[in-house]
Amino acid sequence: MKIAEIIQPDDFHLHLRDGIYLKHTVTYSSKYARAIIMPNLKPPITSIEQAKSYRNEILNINPDFNPLMTLYLNQNIKKEELKKFPDIPWLLGIKLYPSGATTHSDYGVKVSELEYFYSYFELMEKYNIPLLVHGEVADYEVDFFEREKVFIENHLIPIREKFPYLKIVLEHVSSKEGVEFVNQYDLTAATVTPQHLLLTRNDLFFGGINPHNFCLPIVKTQHDKEAIAKEVLQGNPKFFAGTDSAPHPKHKKESCCGPAGIFSAPISIELYLQFFDDYGKSFYNNYTDKDLLENKEVINRIENFLSKFGADFYGLEYNKKTISIYKQEFSIPEEYPLGNETVVPMWAGKTLKYTCYIS
Ligand code: NCD
Ligand code: ZN
Repeated sequence: MKIAEIIQPDDFHLHLRDGIYLKHTVTYSSKYARAIIMPNLKPPITSIEQAKSYRNEILNINPDFNPLMTLYLNQNIKKEELKKFPDIPWLLGIKLYPSGATTHSDYGVKVSELEYFYSYFELMEKYNIPLLVHGEVADYEVDFFEREKVFIENHLIPIREKFPYLKIVLEHVSSKEGVEFVNQYDLTAATVTPQHLLLTRNDLFFGGINPHNFCLPIVKTQHDKEAIAKEVLQGNPKFFAGTDSAPHPKHKKESCCGPAGIFSAPISIELYLQFFDDYGKSFYNNYTDKDLLENKEVINRIENFLSKFGADFYGLEYNKKTISIYKQEFSIPEEYPLGNETVVPMWAGKTLKYTCYIS
């Protein structure tokens, strides 16, 4: 049964990888109209030329999907390139990876050398280029669950206050301190992933260690999850969808010292819908509709989160197409093909309540 139709969503944080993975990963995101593509390839994307050729590879696989590209902040970015950003509609921002903080971040910025990049931030402010931030420190001395909080306190607030006109996105917000930071400053927003809305650290350990729930920033406590959920449910425009779908082959995830990254792309819209359904019931307690997603106001909030707030922040037009949401259960597959290997999705084997298709 069709219950609603909304503007086609965008994914404001996506890892597509490259090489033989690309033919699969691009297809997995095809319900989205556009996505911001992360630049953490090996080697990373640090020039407009590289971003353009990566973009063309993606377009060759699906010309109906609009990949919005980013550069990877390090010394290799030529400052002259920054003034070209305003004339390239598909080039949306620069991503800051603190070195050592996550997958393929060895080329990232050492937090002790962040001030070297202040001259970049000044130009980014001038040309209105958003700074997308992986907001975590990677010091052994810092508790793994406090990496985001410590990065915000020691590094992000100084940048935020020194460059008040720089647009900053705290990517994949994961903590209540992250939520507070985003709410406190203008021109500051956050992407929100399905895992940070639906999982806590219990999901990493309950019933035995589960590497498929390991991502960075790591999923945290119930309090952190609730802080993020509240902003999304109440419709705060600073918080919008970005899946951080980050596929790694099954055999690597299931090995010792396996990499961080949760794969959700093909089921991510449905995961967000499930979140609204599961958590909205107690939040929107004045609604009496039998099915929450049949409520027009709830559907409007979902549409804002998936299809409008991100576009508003980046100054993009809304998508022309729509997706139709059906009340139609489906089981998440145990695995998906990934090049010559396979990848295990988030919540493999679980049943979700809604399915959607491009209208
Ligand atoms: C991402 C990846 O695998 O590229 N991993 C992750 O856990 N999120 C990198 C990132 O966004 O941190
Ligand atoms: Zn990511």
